[in-house]
Amino acid sequence: MSLYTRSAPGKVILSGEHAVVYGYRAVAAAVSLTTTVTLRERAGASGIEESAIRDDRVWPALATVVPPEGLGVTIRSEVPVGCGMGSSAALTVATLRALAAREGREASFDELYTRGFLPERVLHGTPSGVDHAVSALGCVVVYRRDAGQPQITALTLPRRLRLVVADTGRGADTATMVAGVRERGPHGALRSIGALAEMVAAHLQRGEDPGPLFTENHALLRRIGVSTPQLDEACRRMVAAGASGAKLAGAGGGGVAIAAVDSDSELNVLEAVRAVGLRGFAVSVG
Ligand code: MEV
Repeated sequence: MSLYTRSAPGKVILSGEHAVVYGYRAVAAAVSLTTTVTLRERAGASGIEESAIRDDRVWPALATVVPPEGLGVTIRSEVPVGCGMGSSAALTVATLRALAAREGREASFDELYTRGFLPERVLHGTPSGVDHAVSALGCVVVYRRDAGQPQITALTLPRRLRLVVADTGRGADTATMVAGVRERGPHGALRSIGALAEMVAAHLQRGEDPGPLFTENHALLRRIGVSTPQLDEACRRMVAAGASGAKLAGAGGGGVAIAAVDSDSELNVLEAVRAVGLRGFAVSVG
């Protein structure tokens, strides 16, 4: 019996979610939590054998790249599922890597990026591509996709950025959140979010704290209607506990908020998150 196992990391969007769908820049970072896919050769139709990601769209999404016959798929995930940390993009990338391994090769970035849109469109409607691009590259990237053309720059950070993640639980469906923004059409705010993402990239490259820009970004995300009272409260509490800034991360409507912390504030911020009954953990990016 042949097994092919590959992993890919989740992500956090440091700046620019939603605006990136309209051709503005976003900054996203891979995190050290991964989603793992194992393909098992078997007789008969292909299908899911076990999945940590419980969503009816998972098999229709994977069926865009997995051959119809001969493979059982097992999905495990350290990436919290459905909360804006890229578990589905990591699933897409890990699956494409496992399929390439079955052919005795490594998948190239171009293949992961181009073919990755097939499952991602089933899962997310009109994805910008930032989620699976950052998962495939596994680092901090500045991402832009204008008229279908990607511009992707990997950033080297002079110092790692420490973040506290506050997990409010399952986020709303990304496709629904993106469609809601499209309907409301808040073009001025989206342009401002794009401009902030460029400032965040510049701050990170100079080794400066992007925290205050996170807080500005969160205010704009509220304006475009993707925050929730719980995410607003989590951000407020994290800043009150010593974070230099905080924002929701991902599509919103629930899911996670992130806060920029240093070694002095990290424990306080984690305690503040737990005090309001949310799951909190720290990650380093860069
Ligand atoms: C979701 O992680 C990020 C969004 O900007 C959607 C996308 O870029 O496809 C909300």
